[in-house]
Amino acid sequence: MRKPIIAGNWKMNNTASEGAELVKALKPLVKDAKCEVVVCVPAIDIPAVKKAIHGSKIRLGAQNVHFAEKGAYTGEISANMLKEYGVQYVIIGHSERRAYFGETDETVNKRTLAALAAGLTPIVCIGESLEEREGGLTEKVLDNQIALDFQGIEDFSKIVIAYEPIWAIGTGRTATDEQANETIGYIRKRMKKVYAGKNVGRMRIQYGGSMNAKNCKGLMSQPEIDGGLIGGASLKPADFAAIVNFDK
Ligand code: 13P
Repeated sequence: MRKPIIAGNWKMNNTASEGAELVKALKPLVKDAKCEVVVCVPAIDIPAVKKAIHGSKIRLGAQNVHFAEKGAYTGEISANMLKEYGVQYVIIGHSERRAYFGETDETVNKRTLAALAAGLTPIVCIGESLEEREGGLTEKVLDNQIALDFQGIEDFSKIVIAYEPIWAIGTGRTATDEQANETIGYIRKRMKKVYAGKNVGRMRIQYGGSMNAKNCKGLMSQPEIDGGLIGGASLKPADFAAIVNFDK
């Protein structure tokens, strides 16, 4: 059994005090959650949010991590720095980082290995653009990301994949339940083949892209979909709580 995992990706939203307010409002709404609940917050919000989630089921995540242990990497944050603050999850390779900040499959792979080495759970994002989907290239793009992003991982039960079709992010254009299920099923099948014998069957795969309080039930009822990575809707406590409580 794979335990569902619903994670909010706040992106570059909420100051530390706003973030603390948000999780204070969220806490009572998700107290009976059966899934894993995570908020991935801006790095500078981590101390305030850590304090605010105390005594709740909400777990703390970051949005990026550097691959080196330490050193001359101005502006970057290491896995150990996150770990010391009680961060348990880290988003890696989000399409916004790939598009705007030069993230490549190689750096995604390095960051993922560094996160694992520090005992963090990486949430690794993969997915195709609209052009690629319409050109019939979805599987080819995913095959390529699968081959490059996960090299050297020995135990896939320790990572989460977020399948985020780029055309569905922030657009209000969600993949249909069937599309998301089919593509996630494809990712799982392919990974079982490429990384045979490495616990791929226990790895969770989320869907991300305009998931909200209305469409979450349909998506989460699909057998291949193990959770969601939520952008916009994670900024509103009631909406995020409705997704976390998709089974109610
Ligand atoms: P939206 O839910 O705002 O489409 O964002 C999805 C996303 O990018 C989560 O990482």
